[in-house]
Amino acid sequence: MKTRITELFAIQHPIIQGGMHYVGFAQLAAAVSNAGGLGIITGLTQKSAADLANEIAHCRDLTDKPFGVNLTFLPTVASPDYPGYIKAIIQGGVKIVETAGRNPQAYMPYLKDAGIRVIHKCTSVRHSLKAESIGCDAVSVDGFECGGHPGEDDIPNFILLPRAAEELKIPFVASGGMADARSLVAALALGAEGMNMGTRFMATKEAPIHENVKQALVAATELDTRLVMRPLRNTERVLNNAATERLLEKEAALGKNLKFEDIIGEVAGVYPKIMLEGQMDAGVWSCGMVAGLIHDVPTCKELIERIMQEAEALIRGRLEGMLGARRD
Ligand SMILES: Cc1cc2nc3c(=O)[nH]c(=O)nc-3n(C[C@H](O)[C@H](O)[C@H](O)COP(=O)(O)O)c2cc1C
Repeated sequence: MKTRITELFAIQHPIIQGGMHYVGFAQLAAAVSNAGGLGIITGLTQKSAADLANEIAHCRDLTDKPFGVNLTFLPTVASPDYPGYIKAIIQGGVKIVETAGRNPQAYMPYLKDAGIRVIHKCTSVRHSLKAESIGCDAVSVDGFECGGHPGEDDIPNFILLPRAAEELKIPFVASGGMADARSLVAALALGAEGMNMGTRFMATKEAPIHENVKQALVAATELDTRLVMRPLRNTERVLNNAATERLLEKEAALGKNLKFEDIIGEVAGVYPKIMLEGQMDAGVWSCGMVAGLIHDVPTCKELIERIMQEAEALIRGRLEGMLGARRD
């Protein structure tokens, strides 16, 4: 399939694996890229710029296809060394960066001077337009369904994507709630040039996370996510578990007086325990509503090939068939 996104990133299929904390290691990024999609290493999961440089080098050993690095600008407990990370990206020869959180304006000159294509992930039309105006090459439009941070507007993709299509000149992919061929074909119909998946890629053989996490995703339904940290205007969609319930109880009890320190035990530094050790109640972790559509743990190649084959069948069979014979 050829779209503006496959052309922009020189990839075979219009499918991107979004940056994911403690999931987006070289192993997953390379598997997605080798399957013809765009794999993305999560920059901030690497503790230092030197560690990121090693992870990039490792990814290059595993694939000769294009891959990217995610740079997330979110309120974190300690401020990361962004200039150092960007240097590692440039020196590592990476040509695609996915930015998220705050807009990346301050770092755009460095990225653009190095010939890097920037896809900015954001959750509203106004932020997408801002990304376009500061020179981003593409946008990942993240609807309310998404795992991670859906923002504060709560606009689902059936509205957000066509609204983005009405306003944007640069290409965009649909992100949030994307799982299969139906998602891809719908996203294309709504004006996107491809799709970005997070949660779905966690339940793949190559995702270097604990088996407990993958099985939790297969077991979960679309009813099992919760929104946390809304009172702090740092909303995150997570899987419901004991830590989520503890956190929501504190939110209910403290109301407007809630501070980050009150919930630090449930959110800070919990990812290694969950993703690497499989301690499923150690804290809250991002998960999309799309968990309800995840029923197996295929390889990335199996997943992507299945999506592309079924998408073609949907377009040529179901959709074209509905049009019937032309009567002119
Ligand atoms: C476990 C997990 C961790 C994530 N971590 C990040 C992150 O560090 N930076 C980021 O920009 N997005 C992060 N995301 C968001 C994804 O890149 C992607 O935008 C989102 O998962 C799309 O929604 P979906 O889960 O419905 O596919 C994370 C998502 C998940 C599920």
